[in-house]
Amino acid sequence: MQPVPDLRMPDHIRSDFPILRRKVHGHPLVYLDNAATTHKPQAVLDRILEVYKDGYSNIHRGVHHLSEIASQAYEDARKTVKEFINAPHGHEVIFTGGATDSINLVAASFGEAFVEEGDEIIVSEMEHHSNIVPWHMMCRRTGARVKTLPVSEKGTLEAATLKELITSKTRLVCLVYVSHVLGTVNDIRELIRVCHEKGVPVLVDGAQAVQHMQVDVQQLGADFFVFSGHKIFSETGIGVLYGKEDWLEKMPPYRGGGGMISSVTMEQTSYGELPFKFEAGTGNYVAAISLAAALDYVKRSGLDAIKAHEDDVLAYALDHLNELEGLTIYGNPPKRCSVVSFNIDGVHHYDAGMVLDKKGIAVRTGKLCAEPLLHTLGVDGVIRASFALYNTKEDVDHLIGGIKTAQTMFKT
Ligand SMILES: Cc1ncc(COP(=O)(O)O)c(C=O)c1O
Repeated sequence: MQPVPDLRMPDHIRSDFPILRRKVHGHPLVYLDNAATTHKPQAVLDRILEVYKDGYSNIHRGVHHLSEIASQAYEDARKTVKEFINAPHGHEVIFTGGATDSINLVAASFGEAFVEEGDEIIVSEMEHHSNIVPWHMMCRRTGARVKTLPVSEKGTLEAATLKELITSKTRLVCLVYVSHVLGTVNDIRELIRVCHEKGVPVLVDGAQAVQHMQVDVQQLGADFFVFSGHKIFSETGIGVLYGKEDWLEKMPPYRGGGGMISSVTMEQTSYGELPFKFEAGTGNYVAAISLAAALDYVKRSGLDAIKAHEDDVLAYALDHLNELEGLTIYGNPPKRCSVVSFNIDGVHHYDAGMVLDKKGIAVRTGKLCAEPLLHTLGVDGVIRASFALYNTKEDVDHLIGGIKTAQTMFKT
């Protein structure tokens, strides 16, 4: 095995993120809400400012110098994403507004091209609402139906269960790589293999994966793979849809407008080529450039080193949380990544969140946009701590201290 390079941890990395220097309610910020969104390193902030100060103009619109600089930076960003996820071709990388937008694009476009009344879409119970609701909407339009892949007792998605669900009517399977509630790292390669064996394509929600581990869409075999920029240190309002050329070529555009056409008369439109066919109008292209800066930052830090560091912090957190009395931790997957959700006996999750906030500790509380999974877990909300490359064991100590304070305050 290759030795894992040392991440410049923790002080150097932390100093790259200006917001980590601020205080909240008089305490140093302990930011444990990274699954919701991540903070931005100086390199990304600098790049955004540089574009606006020095290279800003609309892309793919003009022959003038600034437009050419901006267009080039945007296409370079596409190349950076392509390389980051090892997509075969740049034109298979579509810039969208985020993971949700990417899934809506597939639901609308794939739905129009390939789904009919009576067809089935398999969606796992572990999904974020973003990977459930667009399929319900698509089913309403087409007359297809959603079939549910249940979560196992351990909190995993099982290939054998999936295999039994697939029928000749299954048109698409939609699965999350890493659960934003349980932290489960699903065996997505095996799940995809089972679907492909039956000739069914798979959409993978990678929103909680790309920032924590190497993703190679070719190795996984994903037909569609989506993620959001803001969860991997870039600006908000940018996301990625990777799709295999064969599928994207056959799918109609999602939105119409400037930039996605080859010609327009008053009678009709003919569409442009990939990827432009799916990028109507002026998108958030500065955010796309900031995404490339963020991916470069991640590459410089080293994904193997990031993973090793985050696994270490997570293991420390799980050990200490498990030692506490009166705590329920959800899921016990064989592979877990950067996320742990729990409840404190006798303390409502919102109250716990408020107590932690007063100590400068940011966690997510509530239903986490995962009502079906929470229903299965038998709870109406959880407390979630989620880690990124800049978190430390000291952050975990603060969390444990905050939980103990909540337990004391709400002791009956
Ligand atoms: C697993 C997963 N999928 C999709 C999303 C939606 O991402 P966005 O809101 O950036 O579109 C999230 C956001 O938390 C998520 O955790």
